[in-house]
Parts: sequence; C-alpha cells; structure tokens
Amino acid sequence: MKNLIDILDLTVEEIDQMITVANDIIDHPENYREACKYKTLATLFFEPSTRTRLSFEAAMLELGGRVIGFSEASSSSAAKGESVADTIAVVSGYADIIAMRHPKEGAPIVALSKATVPIINAGDGGHNHPTQTLTDLITIKREKGHFDNLTVGLCGDLKFGRTVHSLIAAMSRYAGIKFVLISPEELKVPSYVKNAYIKAKGIPYEQTTALENVIDKLDVLYMTRVQRERFFNEEDYLRLKDCYVLTPEKMAMAKKDLIVLHPLPRVNEISVAVDSDPRACYFRQARYGKFIRMALIMKLLEEANK
Ligand code: NCD
Repeated sequence: MKNLIDILDLTVEEIDQMITVANDIIDHPENYREACKYKTLATLFFEPSTRTRLSFEAAMLELGGRVIGFSEASSSSAAKGESVADTIAVVSGYADIIAMRHPKEGAPIVALSKATVPIINAGDGGHNHPTQTLTDLITIKREKGHFDNLTVGLCGDLKFGRTVHSLIAAMSRYAGIKFVLISPEELKVPSYVKNAYIKAKGIPYEQTTALENVIDKLDVLYMTRVQRERFFNEEDYLRLKDCYVLTPEKMAMAKKDLIVLHPLPRVNEISVAVDSDPRACYFRQARYGKFIRMALIMKLLEEANK
C-alpha cells in the first residue's frame, strides 16, 4: 500500500498489524518519539474538521515529525481557482506525506495523478473516510476483542455519511457479520455500497426506520450525524435532522455488552445523558484515532522508502 484512498487499499492482515502497532504505541509511546524525525506531514483540509485534522497533526508531532498545512479552502490557493492536482504537485515538494480532505468525491484520486509522496484520504465528500474506519476498527477490536460474528447497526444519515460507507466495506470482510441499517427512507445506504459490499457477498442485513425495534439485537451501534452540508435544501435537513436521538431509555433496551460508536461531531443524535453509560465509546474512539493514524503514517512512510 503506497496511499490510503479507500479502506480496501489495506488487507485485513495489514489492518490487524496496524492495530497491533497502535496498541503498542498506547502502551509504550516513548518508543515512537523519534519514529518520524525530520519528516513532514501536510494536512490539506478543503473542508471543516476538528478530530481528523488535529489527530493527524498530533500523531505526526508525537512521532517527532513536523506538520504544515491549511484548515480551510478559503485560506489556500483553491480560493483563487487552483486545481487539486496543481496544489498536490506543489505540496509534494514541501512534505513527505499528505493527508487531504475535500468536499468533492474522488478528489484524492485526482491528487494521485500529480503526487510524488503518499496521499491519505481524510474524507472525500459523501463518499469515503478510510482513516475514520481505521479508528472505528481499533475501537471495535479493543472494546469487543474481535470482528467476527457481530451484528452491526448503522443509524442516521446512511446516504451522505461517508464514514458509514467505508465501515460497511471494511466490516464486510469479516465472517458472520450482520448489518442492520437504520435510517429514514430518504437517507438509506446508496445502492452502490449495498450492492458491492452487502448483496454481492450475501451478507444478511435488514433495513428499518425504527431504532427501538432493533436495538436489542445489536453488538455495535454506529450513530451518525445528519450531514447538513450535503443536503440540497435546508427544508429537508430540518425535517430529518432529529430523526434519531439515542437516549438512556433506548439504551435500557440494548444488550449489556453493546458498544455505541459515533465518528463525531455529535449534534442531537445522542443525548448527553448517554455519555456516562459505560457502553458509550465515542470519546475513547476519538482518542484511539490518534494512535491508529500514527501507525498509518509510519507504515506509509516505510513503504515510500522501500
Ligand atoms: C466525520 C466526517 O467528517 O465524515 N467526522 C470525522 O471525521 N470524525 C463525520 C461527520 O462529520 O459527521
């Protein structure tokens, strides 16, 4: 793997190895403090971010590396009309590795055409978000101990939620997985995702609009925000924005060993009262994101030096 554009760029074995490295970093951070000394990460964020950008930056700094970049398109030459390909061609001369987020689906593929250093897709429009999936996977591994035989519920905006698409692709490679897709009619999983990763592999799944009808059978509940920025009109957003709210009452109906994940940011879809439930893993999940990104940066820089 030279770049991470899609979660399937990584084999199941590579993901396992990265999780092992990330766990070792958590236990022995002092062993990694100079792992990327004199290396530079560029974070090119053409779209807003808190966790993804800051966890990438913290990751590189904790590996002893340096960070350059921008956090909004308006402060880059994109505002003057520069193409993604040109920006990448230039930044390839300033950095050893690039993490980019862009509102257009496929932008990281365009970036590859001019990149001379590894590219990491940190989210492309409503399409994919592979490093969030690595974060989700290390969380599932640490909290449940395994990936096989899990019933995974995905709830909320399954249409525009890029984290959902990448997570379905990743989980579809494990044995005994079942998916429960919980969304309003208008925000169902796109058929290209369903066809490629669920139907083509014969994975059992059910679709429902009612979280309370299915919450009792879930091992993992992945809540998502309704993606306001991808809606064509505000009216539809307002109608759908509070379609699901996870509350302590709903949690009372769930398994004792359920884990609740959320890529964050949360808006209203998880009541703050759920935060103190030991099954609520989303803040731990955000923390693990830094360590798995450290493992990813090391792996890509190693491969680039081969
Ligand atoms: C997600 C994203 O950007 O897609 N956030 C993140 O990276 N943790 C989810 C979201 O914005 O709702």
